[in-house]
Amino acid sequence: MVGSVLMQRMRDERDFSLINPVFFSTSNAGGRAPSFAEGTSALQDAYDVEALAKLPIIVTAQGGGYTAEVYPKLRSTGWDGLWIDAASTLRMETSSIIVLDPVNRDVIDAGLSRGVRDFIGGNCTVSCMLMGLGGLFRNGLVEWGTSMTYQAASGGGARHMRELLNQFGAIHGAVAPNLDDPASAILAIDQAVLAQQRNPGMDASQFGVPLAGSVIPWIDADLGNGMSREEWKAGAETNKILGTDAADGAWIPFDGLCVRIGAMRSHSQALTLKLTEDVPLAEIEQIIDADNAWATVVPNTKEATMAGLTPVAATGSLTVPVGRLRKMEMGPQYLSAFTVGDQLLWGAAEPLRRMLLIATGNL
Ligand code: HSE
Repeated sequence: MVGSVLMQRMRDERDFSLINPVFFSTSNAGGRAPSFAEGTSALQDAYDVEALAKLPIIVTAQGGGYTAEVYPKLRSTGWDGLWIDAASTLRMETSSIIVLDPVNRDVIDAGLSRGVRDFIGGNCTVSCMLMGLGGLFRNGLVEWGTSMTYQAASGGGARHMRELLNQFGAIHGAVAPNLDDPASAILAIDQAVLAQQRNPGMDASQFGVPLAGSVIPWIDADLGNGMSREEWKAGAETNKILGTDAADGAWIPFDGLCVRIGAMRSHSQALTLKLTEDVPLAEIEQIIDADNAWATVVPNTKEATMAGLTPVAATGSLTVPVGRLRKMEMGPQYLSAFTVGDQLLWGAAEPLRRMLLIATGNL
């Protein structure tokens, strides 16, 4: 799914005209390469390390299993090209950089200058959050933060999205006749919905438990210390992207709970930030808005929030709306915020295609 979105974005932005692409496949070697990239030969075998090693840059959205299998073999041939992927396999290696250039172009450029060769897309939730609120972090205004996430089904993958929709369909099917009858009792409908959600026959094989009409407050592995791996990534990756993991005393504590909800492909998060100083709200809005071309402040009104600060509003767009900005009861240094981002765009594909443009001198 990330690969499809990546190819579409590269096609839309005419990136293929700037490079000489060679296409590889893990499942269809010998098949036809995409017709929109002129002059390409048939699809090559993505496990053919010798063929891969002939290239100066490899971009893959194949996933962590592929990276774990192919990357070490490729490097052991002496290949010293640039590896760009979106998997977590290499993300926290000291030899890699997490790419999110509107936020950390300085870190990327410094890495390229000193010979770093592995450039990895970040966790989608972290990338979307930093695209929205990066301005506050980059201006040294965040002492610590918490993030409560509302993560879409797409974060699990294509099958998870299908499962969610099938669950919605099964639930609706269980109560459709009653819904059509205005005289039927809502508590009876509610009971029927619950019975369907708890029906062992309803497919929940991807998420493990029903997601439709429910939430799952755990994402990714159990680290055994009360924290999920997704929650660990929030602090670890935020600091690595910002470069605040390297210097003594620069680390910004960032933690919260990660929750799966029944949205399709945009991740949302509610944040509390402790600011390093009492910055006026108008200035905060200006810093967020001006930080990059995509972060956009949504006025903190009910009307603007409902129109512009939802997964339905944000999906399919590179714009990252940031709203619900207000000083909290706890004091003038406590800021609330809510952001939404399409997790397949800034959360996955976009940083990769932009890293390829940077590496080839086109951005
Ligand atoms: N771990 C994310 C999720 C996927 O499950 O939503 C994108 O990094």
